[in-house]
Amino acid sequence: MSRANSQLKIAVLISGRGSNMQALANHAETPNASYQICLVAANKPADGLSIASDAGLSTALIDRKSYTSKQDHERALAEAIEASGANWICLAGYMSVLSADFIARFEGKIINIHPSLLPDYKGLHTHERALADSQKFHGVSVHLVTPVLDDGAVIAQMRLPVRSADTQESLSARVLVLEHILYPMVIGSLASGAVTLDAGQVCWQDISVANALSLSEDTTLIFG
Ligand code: GAR
Repeated sequence: MSRANSQLKIAVLISGRGSNMQALANHAETPNASYQICLVAANKPADGLSIASDAGLSTALIDRKSYTSKQDHERALAEAIEASGANWICLAGYMSVLSADFIARFEGKIINIHPSLLPDYKGLHTHERALADSQKFHGVSVHLVTPVLDDGAVIAQMRLPVRSADTQESLSARVLVLEHILYPMVIGSLASGAVTLDAGQVCWQDISVANALSLSEDTTLIFG
């Protein structure tokens, strides 16, 4: 499954269906991707684990319920990530807030995808809240993880117009399509050096990566 010449090794953390993990895995198989997924780990039984395992990826269920404390659970998770050889961590629908200690252990190396145009709508129920506020635009962000929830530097975003007929379900489905384009693009860019993240600073060296994306006319890609 993994590409032999891959340099960037990522651990993908999930809690559910794992569609973003699958998008990352699919992209890892394309000729231009220079990253490999060396572990898919979940904090609870998650559909995405069997998808990953069927795709030939290493998986680990590190069930929060098997540990008496969050600290013990995160220690086991960190050890599994380190043992896998991963040098970056991608949160892909990992629905547990990581502690400051865990984040410090992998400082500057944790990336998250969040279904809103940060800094708007941190936390949960982003689509519902965007609709309730009659927002004209909504979208998705990929950002660095810091100890403050959904607060780290934005690496890139994709924005779409909210339609008058949009429901929570339709908006979430439209944003998910963008998520599956944006996350692989960002991780691929990190692997190729098109974007660098030094000391929490996002620096795009090459934005021509956008040319390879097939985006509909009403979608905007925003570099962080
Ligand atoms: C995705 O929409 C992701 O952006 C979101 O959870 C979903 C996971 O779906 N993440 C967050 O809300 C994090 N705050 P997936 O399991 O199919 O990738």
